Amino acid sequence: MSTASLAAMTTAPDTTPELILGIETSCDETAAAVVADGRHIRSSVVASQVDLHACFGGVVPEIAGRAHVELLTPVIADALLEAGVEGRQVAAVAATVGPGLVGSLLVGVSTAKALSLVWGVPFVGVNHLEAHLYACLLEDPLLEPPLVVLLVSGGHTLLVVVEARGQYRVLGQTIDDAAGEAFDKVARFLGLGYPGGPAIDRVAVEGDAGAITFPRSLLDRGYDFSFSGLKTAVITYVRKHPEVSTADLAASFQEAVVDVLVAKARRAAAEVGARGLCLAGGVAANSRLRERVLDACITDGLSPFVPSRAMCTDNAAMVAAAGWWRLHSDGPTSLDAGAQPNLGLPLAG
Ligand code: KG4
Ligand code: ZN
Repeated sequence: MSTASLAAMTTAPDTTPELILGIETSCDETAAAVVADGRHIRSSVVASQVDLHACFGGVVPEIAGRAHVELLTPVIADALLEAGVEGRQVAAVAATVGPGLVGSLLVGVSTAKALSLVWGVPFVGVNHLEAHLYACLLEDPLLEPPLVVLLVSGGHTLLVVVEARGQYRVLGQTIDDAAGEAFDKVARFLGLGYPGGPAIDRVAVEGDAGAITFPRSLLDRGYDFSFSGLKTAVITYVRKHPEVSTADLAASFQEAVVDVLVAKARRAAAEVGARGLCLAGGVAANSRLRERVLDACITDGLSPFVPSRAMCTDNAAMVAAAGWWRLHSDGPTSLDAGAQPNLGLPLAG
């Protein structure tokens, strides 16, 4: 072998992609994904339990935990197969440790720890809220902080400033129901089924968003949100006007939620001098919210980032991406770490 080729062999950078297996079981989606170098999705498999919970009108924690036990192993096997990798080729196993339902979280956390021991690779505990923020960065790695992110899901409504990777400041959050919870409760009341968000989104297309003027709680006050009064206003309206069109109700309710979310996000972006405005979380799949955020960004000269619908709702690719970042910034998580049902977003020090 010539000296030149020997030198090339010894000095060439290691280009082997660093594969992270991500596992997500915080609520009612059982998901696994393989992501290379924190940004290239090799596979993302999501088994939804929606049919198991639909007849109860919401997630039943006991049923969710049991279903994760049944579904997780085949979902992980599918994710590895789809990515074309053997388990032992992964560099780390990342799993959501919180927030979420404790019985559901424990399934993913225990499985991830077991795999990390068997394969001899690090375990990384991931914050589910941070993972939702990574869904934006995963699809658009060139996004530059400072960014304002509207993180709207079934359990959370947060207005977050991403000052740098891993450095977050919460400007506001809901003081009662989360935005997704409001969609789910109103849909249940209107008999539209579960999950309510997509159902209202579908029905609202046929309705007139200006038909009924519902309250816009805390619209001009601070950055906190409140949606429980809006839910009560819908119920009160229907009791007084039983003949009202469901499509008009859905569209008017949706418009009231979206008006408040977009107004506060724009105000926050202007105040912090953000370069961009991002959406994250299940409610970010809402058609009207996506349309309004894109319009607002054009008007305000902001870079919009609206993730694909699959990346808005719970998935494990975002967990693998956040896990890759945390592995490089903080190192592996100790194997005695447990599930943390009430975990908050890690805040800038
Ligand atoms: O992020 P996610 O999948 O799970 C949590 O971490 O909570 O969010 C689920 C929430 C549910 O409340 C669901 O109704 C809502 O996101 N959602 C939507 C839409 N798709 C899902 N809300 C409004 N419009 C949608 N298209
Ligand atoms: Zn979520």
